[in-house]
Amino acid sequence: MNWQIAIDGPASAGKSTIAKILASNLGYIYVDTGAMYRTVTLAVKRAHIDYNDESKVIELLDKINIDFEPDVSGQRVFLNHDDVTEEIRSNEITNNVSQVAAYADVRTDLVERQRQLAQEANIIMDGRDIGTTVLPLAQVKIFLVASVDERAQRRYKENMAKGMTANLETLKADIALRDYKDSHRAISPLIQADDAILVDTTGHSIEEVVTEITAIINDRQ
Ligand code: C5P
Repeated sequence: MNWQIAIDGPASAGKSTIAKILASNLGYIYVDTGAMYRTVTLAVKRAHIDYNDESKVIELLDKINIDFEPDVSGQRVFLNHDDVTEEIRSNEITNNVSQVAAYADVRTDLVERQRQLAQEANIIMDGRDIGTTVLPLAQVKIFLVASVDERAQRRYKENMAKGMTANLETLKADIALRDYKDSHRAISPLIQADDAILVDTTGHSIEEVVTEITAIINDRQ
C-alpha cells in the first residue's frame, strides 16, 4: 500500500499550509479536498443553481471535472480546464461550501475521486473526513486545531495580503459557523478519528508544527 497521511481539522487551522510543506519535503502528492468541495460549489454558482436545491446540485456532478496542477505556490485548481484557484476562495464560495458539502451524493462522488487519487502515489490529503472516511487505513492521521481567535487572525492577515476586504469579528463568526455546520452534518461530520493524533497549533509557528508532525511521521516509518 502507498503511504497515506491524513490531516483533518476545522477551518483555517493551517492544514493546507502544513500539508504542502510536508508533501514537498517527503516528495508526496498533496490533495486539498476542501478545494474539491469549493470547486463543486463554484460550479453550482456558475450554473445559477440555488445552493439549497439538492437534486439540481447532484445532477451537475457528472459535468464537473476537477484537476490539480503543481505550481510554485503549491498547486492550481481547475474546473473543466478553467483555472479557478483564486475564485474558489471568494467569500461567497466560503460561506456556501458547507451547505453543498453536506449533501450525501456530493460526498459519495468526491470521496470516490479522492480514493482514486490516493491509489496513484504516496499522498498527503487534508480535509474534514480523511482519517474517518476517505482513508481509514492511513498510516498517519493528524487532527490539527487552533483557537477560533487565532484562526480568524490568520485568515484576516491572508485576506489583507490578497487585497480582499476583511473584518476580524465577521471572520470569527464565519469560521465558528462553518465549524458548527461541518461538525453537525449527518454524513461524515468533522470529528477526530480514534487513532488520530491531536496537534494544537495555537501559538506555534509553521516551522514548529512541521517539525512536530515530521517527528510523528518518522516514528511510523
Ligand atoms: O478546507 P477548506 O476550508 O477549504 O474546506 C471548505 C469546506 O469544504 C469545509 O468547510 C467543509 O464544508 C468542506 N469539506 C468537507 N470535507 C472535506 C474537506 C472540506 O466537507 N474533506
